[in-house]
Amino acid sequence: MNNQYYSKLIFELSREGRQGYSLPRNEFVNHNLCDMPAQLLRQQEPKLPEVDELTVVRHYTNMSNNNFGVDTGFYPLGSCTMKYNPKINEDMAAHPDFTGLHPFQPAGTADGALEIYYNLQHSLAELSGMKEFTLNPFAGAHGELTGLMVMRSYHASRGEGETRRKVIVPDSAHGTNPASAAVCGLEVVTVKSLADGTVDVDDLRPLLDNTVAGMMMTNPNTLGIFERNIATIAAMVHEAGGLMYYDGANLNPLLGRCRPGDLGFDIMHINLHKTFSTPHGGGGPGSGPVGVREGLERFLPNPRVVKVSDDDGDSFMIQHGEESLGCISAFLGNFGVIMRAYAYILTLGHEHVKEVGPLATLNANYVKESLKDVYELPLDVVCKHEFVFDGLKDKSTGVTTLDVAKRLLDYGFHAPTIYFPLLFHEAMMIEPTETESIETLDAFIEVLRKIAGEASENPEMVKTAPHNTPVRRLDDTKAALEQIVTYQFE
Ligand SMILES: Cc1ncc(COP(=O)(O)O)c(C=O)c1O
Repeated sequence: MNNQYYSKLIFELSREGRQGYSLPRNEFVNHNLCDMPAQLLRQQEPKLPEVDELTVVRHYTNMSNNNFGVDTGFYPLGSCTMKYNPKINEDMAAHPDFTGLHPFQPAGTADGALEIYYNLQHSLAELSGMKEFTLNPFAGAHGELTGLMVMRSYHASRGEGETRRKVIVPDSAHGTNPASAAVCGLEVVTVKSLADGTVDVDDLRPLLDNTVAGMMMTNPNTLGIFERNIATIAAMVHEAGGLMYYDGANLNPLLGRCRPGDLGFDIMHINLHKTFSTPHGGGGPGSGPVGVREGLERFLPNPRVVKVSDDDGDSFMIQHGEESLGCISAFLGNFGVIMRAYAYILTLGHEHVKEVGPLATLNANYVKESLKDVYELPLDVVCKHEFVFDGLKDKSTGVTTLDVAKRLLDYGFHAPTIYFPLLFHEAMMIEPTETESIETLDAFIEVLRKIAGEASENPEMVKTAPHNTPVRRLDDTKAALEQIVTYQFE
């Protein structure tokens, strides 16, 4: 890292007349080749930085070194799984045969890409126990909205569209669940959790009547705990005429072992950018395919890819269903993420996909058990892929979860998710994922134990962390409220 010279803004490194490239002479300069309307033409030169090539390279290389990424260190973010993404997936997604595709080219000239869409639709259906999938939605939350629209269309088709508007959501749910239901024009009703973090069936019972459209759940839930009453809950919701929606953002620990379709869910989404390996951060890129059980296929959005077999073999077509919801996104979805997921599933194959769930579960429980004597564990049960600490056990030092998270950066680890879920004041949500080695987990455990020791011996040092990072503790609130994202010319 060479922050002393090159960490300035590229505009500050600019010197008038400095140039880092040379382009061939523009032979068309006097030809009026493009007839742009005058009001669209630039009136003055753009204010671009003027820098030599080495300065540009050093500036951006330094910036990338200042950043923390999944390729540089352990990233134990709970809930938002910053996943390992095998480099072969990147190679596949960047293959020129795919990157050269144009969204408007005739479908008949993109058979290979369509075959991948079709195969992934089917792999996801097989892995989840659903009948059919659409790969249209661009994120988990987008998938939730799509799935809830399917739910509404189903009730409307039975003449109950106006009466069934209640969506039940556990109090432990991810914030996108109630938000998606509200955006979809449905009424959100919260069901309480028991002390062990699972849905309180007795609290649910009186909520179930003929106004229920459905219930949204993630299993394991956002506390990393398996909802063991799921079959009973699904039967109760179905009995009341509602549908069960599965938020598949937490599919990792079930993968290849247990299928939401077999647990009684009717509609679901999967976060490809979590369970199927595209790193998730900074809001994208994502993909939230939606699957439905048999009988609901006709409500899925357009378009979907179907296989046509004849004497000449198989070919693939884009189909627009007559009763479908219409389009949820442009074209067929986020191809790069779809490609990565497909490569990941093929790499694991039938045999190894079964190892994902147990390894994710083992890793999370290993970290939890190794630290619960120094960090507060509100739910002392076997967790699935993630778990929540409620800050340090010893609260007398005044060292908070935020302080621990900042101190972790000094030791080269990314912080876990903090202050979520909202059920605990000092929540620290850790998800190691199935792909981390025991050496990495041991190093992380050792550092968290060390920080617990520092909190008792020298709390001030932890409260003022980080000390060894390119920038010290930032004012997060100021950054969120006063966003200056363009260079301010004097
Ligand atoms: C349980 C759960 N549901 C839904 C979502 C929403 O997914 P996305 O961020 O892709 O919209 C997340 C994302 O973090 C999640 O953890």
